[in-house]
Amino acid sequence: MPKSLLIVHSSARQNRSHTRELAKLFEDSWTASGGGEITHRDVGLTPPKIIDEDWIAAAFTEPSELTDGQKQTLAESDALIEEIKAADVIALCAPMYNYSMPAALKAWFDLIARVGVTFSFDLARGDVPIEPILAGKELVVLSSRGEFDFAPGGSRAHMNGLDPALAASAHYLGANSNEMQTIAIEYEEFRDARWESSVANAQAQTRDVASQLAG
Ligand SMILES: Cc1cc2nc3c(=O)[nH]c(=O)nc-3n(C[C@H](O)[C@H](O)[C@H](O)COP(=O)(O)O)c2cc1C
Repeated sequence: MPKSLLIVHSSARQNRSHTRELAKLFEDSWTASGGGEITHRDVGLTPPKIIDEDWIAAAFTEPSELTDGQKQTLAESDALIEEIKAADVIALCAPMYNYSMPAALKAWFDLIARVGVTFSFDLARGDVPIEPILAGKELVVLSSRGEFDFAPGGSRAHMNGLDPALAASAHYLGANSNEMQTIAIEYEEFRDARWESSVANAQAQTRDVASQLAG
C-alpha cells in the first residue's frame, strides 16, 4: 500500500515562498516515486485557533465527561490530529520567523499536543512522565532562513530557536527526532551566490529525500 503524506505549510506568504516551492518539489518527487495520497494543511494562510483557558480545561477533561461545548472546543484539535494519524510521512514547511517558528505553526503544535491522545503523562515514570502515543512517522522539515550559519557549531547556532523546538516536539507527531531530516535554504536575505548555491542544494536534497521516503 502506498505511503500517505501530510504537508503542513506555515509561510504567511502565498507567493514567492521558498518553503512552498520546496514543498511543491517534494510533492512532485513523492508522486513520481510512487508515494500515495497527499494532504495539505495550510496554517500559514489559515492560522489555527490559539489555545485558551477553555481549551486547556477541555483537553484535560476525561473524554467521557466532556460537555457538547467542550467537544466543540476540541474539534479543530481532533481534526488536525486525525490528519497526523493518517500520515506515514509528515513534511513540515517551517520558515524561520524571528529566530523561531511562525506563530501559526506553534499554534498548530499547541493544538496537536493533547494528553491522552498524542502523549500520555504519568508521574509513576519518574522524571520522564511524558510518553508519546503515536509512533512510526517519518518527519522532514523544509525550511528557509534569511541569514545563515544556524547549524550546530555555526556562528548563529545560539540564535536558532526553530530547529531545536521542532526536534523537541517531534515525538507528539510520532516521529523520532534523531531521524528527523531538515532541509534548509539559507542566505535568503542576501540573494547572492551563496543563496543560489543554498537553494540548489536544498532543491536536490528535497528531491532525494522525497523519493527515498515515498518508497
Ligand atoms: C516575519 C519574518 C521574520 C523573519 N525572521 C527571520 C529571522 O529571525 N532570521 C532569519 O534568518 N530570517 C528571517 N526571516 C527571513 C525568512 O526566514 C525567509 O524570508 C524565508 O524564506 C521565509 O520563508 P518563505 O520564503 O517560505 O516565506 C524572516 C522573514 C519574515 C517574513
